[in-house]
Amino acid sequence: MVRNVASDIAELEDEDFYLLSGLEQGMRFSEWVARGKVPEFSRLTSEEVDYRIDRCETRGLLERKTIQYVGYQLTFEGYDALALHTFAERDTLEGVGAPLGVGKESDVYEVRSYRPLALKFHREGYTEFREVNREREYTADHDHVSWLYTARKAAEREYETLESLYPTVSVPRPIDHNRHAIVMDRIDAVELARSKLDPAQARPVLDLVLEEMTTTYREGYVHADMSEYNVFVDTDGVTVFDWPQAVPTDHENADELLVRDIENIVGYFQRKYPGAVGDLDTDGLAESIRTDSFDTSKPFLD
Ligand SMILES: Nc1ncnc2c1ncn2[C@@H]1O[C@H](COP(=O)(O)OP(=O)(O)OP(=O)(O)O)[C@@H](O)[C@H]1O
Ligand SMILES: [Mg+2]
Repeated sequence: MVRNVASDIAELEDEDFYLLSGLEQGMRFSEWVARGKVPEFSRLTSEEVDYRIDRCETRGLLERKTIQYVGYQLTFEGYDALALHTFAERDTLEGVGAPLGVGKESDVYEVRSYRPLALKFHREGYTEFREVNREREYTADHDHVSWLYTARKAAEREYETLESLYPTVSVPRPIDHNRHAIVMDRIDAVELARSKLDPAQARPVLDLVLEEMTTTYREGYVHADMSEYNVFVDTDGVTVFDWPQAVPTDHENADELLVRDIENIVGYFQRKYPGAVGDLDTDGLAESIRTDSFDTSKPFLD
């Protein structure tokens, strides 16, 4: 798990952030930024760079590696520090609180702010990147795709999708976005996977999810990672979250992904509440979602 760097931020000085963002710049060109190039990227003197590298290395915000040359790269902690610094400057957040969820592809935290917010750091690309790197010898890396880029793209895609869907679809309200991080409303509810519904509620709740999927389709998207882990449920209804992999409805795999989403969510209800949902015609459901005619799942009982 990536360490929460929020408490380090207060100790960091402007020049530390110049160094970190200099490395971020340099990492657009190579995985490891040569020591000799750091002053130019960070606009700091060479002596200042040495001093700042020490401070940031101690805090785990960057890593050093000697290949043909001494090179540096940001760690995820360093990248988190840059995003948090930006959010703090924009008054998006005052502090970071307890973890709300840790996935293999993200870390989500509670945020101290003027209203209940959640902060999601995307981690896509990191493990893949590490593995690829271990397997191959170091080569000139004109074709490298940095984890910074992969994680930032995922956050951008998720934020854009939230912006287009909110508030028509029940999704967390998007608040701010920077680098690989997004800030959104915190949803005070439990994941569907952890909720225990009265069996009589199973079909109505499934229908609420299918309704949100219908509205999502009408707004031009398919979630594409629909599951009991990405839906919150409470007495007010359902909220669908975790959108980085959503595809537009004109995407070549959109129909396939829609059917898979329906099978996932229907399958979950059938397993967890046997008999409460019945056998459903998923192709028929998909057709009703695509044609914006979904009302209830009843007519699709086999
Ligand atoms: N807006 C939010 N409010 C409250 N808790 C949230 C919010 N967004 C996410 N969480 C919590 O964080 C956990 C992880 O979030 P999310 O599903 O978005 O990422 P993920 O599952 O790691 O992503 P992936 O499915 O790509 O691995 C959720 O299961 C949920 O408990
Ligand atoms: Mg998830």
